[in-house]
Amino acid sequence: NNSLIQRLEKAIVNVADFPKEGIQFKDITPVFLDPQLYRDVIKALADFSRGKVDAVCGIESRGYLFGIAVAMELNVPFILIRKQGKLPPPFVSEKYELEYGFAEIEMRQGQLQKGQRVLIHDDLLATGGTTQAAAKLVESQGAQVAQFSFLIALEFLQGQKRLEQFGAPIYNILNYQ
Ligand code: PRP
Ligand code: MG
Repeated sequence: NNSLIQRLEKAIVNVADFPKEGIQFKDITPVFLDPQLYRDVIKALADFSRGKVDAVCGIESRGYLFGIAVAMELNVPFILIRKQGKLPPPFVSEKYELEYGFAEIEMRQGQLQKGQRVLIHDDLLATGGTTQAAAKLVESQGAQVAQFSFLIALEFLQGQKRLEQFGAPIYNILNYQ
């Protein structure tokens, strides 16, 4: 859908040198000023996954902004993948390297069921470290990584390569070369 791509491109603001020098930050907050654009983004993401997933995992925090709405649209469970220290036990955790720094993410044990086909959603694919760690968490629960979706992929950072090992299709509405 060309017009969705154009509207989204127009809404997203590029901020140079944030949060560090050399980083081109993509500010997605203007999307939420335009309910029709937000709805159309959710529809595009949901259309990619409809009938193909049994659960959605979204990554804190910007992965929640669209992931929950997609799960509701698909009528499937939404599981929160949180940053370290936020979830009570029992949980599983995975360390990863970020575009800027290091981090750890966690997921409650028992919320994903064995054999479920899972969509992993986040707003942005950069180096792929965050999403790769999320996919490892999903597999640790005996569930299947069925799909990945993002609003934006920064293709020049080659995050897609780190996701190849999971053999799941990737959808992103925008990509920046
Ligand atoms: C950003 C972005 C993705 C991740 C992508 O999140 O929302 O989750 O980085 O980077 P990667 O592909 O190199 O791993 P961030 O950790 O900045 O936190 P936020 O979502 O809470 O703002
Ligand atoms: Mg994030």
